[in-house]
Amino acid sequence: MSETLQTIKERRSIRNFKDEQVKEQDLQAVLEAGLYAPSAMNEQSWHFTVIQNTELLKKFTQIAKNTFAKSDVEHLKSLSKNDNYKVFYNAPTAIVISGNVNALNTEADTAAATENMLLAAKALGLGSCWIGSMPLIFENAQNEYFKKELGIPEGYNPINSIALGYAANENTKAPARRENTINIIK
Ligand SMILES: Cc1cc2nc3c(=O)[nH]c(=O)nc-3n(C[C@H](O)[C@H](O)[C@H](O)COP(=O)(O)O)c2cc1C
Repeated sequence: MSETLQTIKERRSIRNFKDEQVKEQDLQAVLEAGLYAPSAMNEQSWHFTVIQNTELLKKFTQIAKNTFAKSDVEHLKSLSKNDNYKVFYNAPTAIVISGNVNALNTEADTAAATENMLLAAKALGLGSCWIGSMPLIFENAQNEYFKKELGIPEGYNPINSIALGYAANENTKAPARRENTINIIK
């Protein structure tokens, strides 16, 4: 099997990381993979924010918890009370993928960039997990100031994010694939 196909099949969400920081060269390679994703009309409507500052990662979790505490969704409410909950688990690096609000299809563009980065991470021996809670956190106008603190450009909204680091334990078992999801017409 080609190495690319093997990487695709073997990538799994990793939710437990070693303390070791991601090597700069590997981080750059992951980000570059994101930049080479396809995008509608080649708008490349993404912006990536890398967070490796421990205090800022802690603050991110606190802001998420404060926001979830006010939610009507029971699951989010319970996360806000969970002492073990961290937005990016214990990953030493987080990448926030923001999208240009005026782009044709920034949800798709940023999703393509996110998946490229997850696959690049796997290919480089890194563990990663797609974290989708950004809109829940940043749709709350009270957290607008935090977007500024993170340097997210005007006109961009956080859409996806990635927890990135070296896996503390390899999660190799892929969940079973749903059946009857392909129709080939010849
Ligand atoms: C849009 C999207 C949002 C996700 N959000 C989260 C999340 O907030 N937290 C998390 O632990 N995993 C999240 N995941 C990862 C999924 O739970 C995971 O991909 C799925 O269970 C399949 O497992 P695998 O990635 O190991 O194949 C998300 C995945 C996607 C595509």
